[in-house]
This record gives sequence, structure tokens and C-alpha cells, in this order.
Amino acid sequence: MKVLIVGDIVGRAGLNRLGAELRTRKDIDFCIVNGENSASGRGIRDKEYNEILGYGADVITMGNHMYYRKEMASEYAKLEKLAIPANITNLNGNKHVIVEKNGKKFGVINLIGSFAMGEIIEKNITNPFVMADEQIKLLKAENVDYIFIDFHAEATAEKIAMGYYLKNKVNAVYGTHTHVQTADEKILDTGMAYITDVGMTGPKDSVLGLKTEIAIARFTTGHYLHYECSQNEAMFNAIEIEFDDNTKKAISIKRINE
Ligand SMILES: [Fe+2]
Ligand SMILES: [Fe+2]
Repeated sequence: MKVLIVGDIVGRAGLNRLGAELRTRKDIDFCIVNGENSASGRGIRDKEYNEILGYGADVITMGNHMYYRKEMASEYAKLEKLAIPANITNLNGNKHVIVEKNGKKFGVINLIGSFAMGEIIEKNITNPFVMADEQIKLLKAENVDYIFIDFHAEATAEKIAMGYYLKNKVNAVYGTHTHVQTADEKILDTGMAYITDVGMTGPKDSVLGLKTEIAIARFTTGHYLHYECSQNEAMFNAIEIEFDDNTKKAISIKRINE
């Protein structure tokens, strides 16, 4: 069984690239996409939600950019394939998503980290490790075959620790949020797949998706300049994990950075 996990989709360029990639990758059994930057770099709306699912994604995960779309605050809970960070306390939405496909039951959990994620996050979250256990318990009670954890976090150590913490409990732990793919993909001794960050599917010449000149001006002047999503050609950052259907252990994990 092959699973494709796609890193943060940024803006129109990222969406177009996702569409092109999913049209050609026909051997994928299950696909999870992080959509937190799909609406012009900031958040997601119904429009991007439907577009991403229309390309063939099975579940969409989120992150801190949920807060940039105030008009969506009461809408997330209505999007049944959208998993929001389960440990956020002041927004409503699915704390996990279960999908039945190809005779298997898949559970997806999104969690947000506790370090350097911005004040609004740090004030409005519970401990991601404790919440992971809570949500895993609920998924196991539903007899899911596979559990995937998107840990949306800045701190490398927190993500690595989460990987080891969950190595006996889930099938994959992967990081999102930094928009830069890490080269530490591995399969732990329990058969759980891990990578610290999947990376970004968005504009190549940009600072994490933001127009380079705006990013540079922010740093050189120390002033906040309005966010503008870069629109140049997008790269595709993802991981492909193959599992043994009998043992549910990962056989391989491959990085895609094209
Ligand atoms: Fe992101
Ligand atoms: Fe993020």
C-alpha cells in the first residue's frame, strides 16, 4: 500500500503543481495534503478545500494559518475531510479524520507544536503529546488500520521527540510548517515512518512562499510589510511511504523534492 503525503500547498502555483502531480501518480492508495497556505499563502477556504480534494487528496491537514481566515472560523467544522490541529482550544473542527478506502480504514491526526509558533497559538493550545495519546485512543476504538500524524511545528527537537514518543502507536509521524524539506527520513525499529519536515509545494523563488522582495524588506527595515504570495513556478515537496499490508509496517520512505 502506497501513501503520498504532500507538504504545505502555497497559493495558486502550489495548487496547480499539486493538480499536475496527482494526475500523473496513479499508483497512490491514499493521499494526505497539508493545505494551510493554499488560499494565496494564508489559510484555506471552501474553494481550495474542494480543489485539493478534486485533485484526488483524501484528507487535508492544517496549521497555524487557520487564524488568518477569520471568516472561516465557524466553517472548519463543516469540512469533513479537514483535520485541524487537535490541540488548538479556540477553534472548532475535526480533531481527527477517518476515511475508508480500498478496503482499509485510515485515521489522520493533525497537531500543532508548542515552540515559536506565535503568541496566538501558544496561548490557545494544550500539550500536543497528551493530545496525541487522546486522539490515538479514539482512532483505535474505531479499529483503524493505519494512523498518520501531521505534526505542524517549528522546533526540530519537538518533532523528533514526537516521532520516538509515538513509534509503537502509529504508522507515520511527519512534520510540516517550516516549508523546507529535511533529509532525515527514516523507518524506526517498530516500522513507523518518520521525517522532520515534508517541505512545501509552492513557489520556488520565494521566502517560504512570500515574495522575496517583501521578505527582504521586512528584515532590512524591521517593519511589517503586507504579505504577498509569490506566484512563480512551484516545486513539489512530498514523501511516499510504502507499507506491508499484513504487518502495517513501513517498507520504504522516499522523499520527493522536485
Ligand atoms: Fe505552512
Ligand atoms: Fe504553518
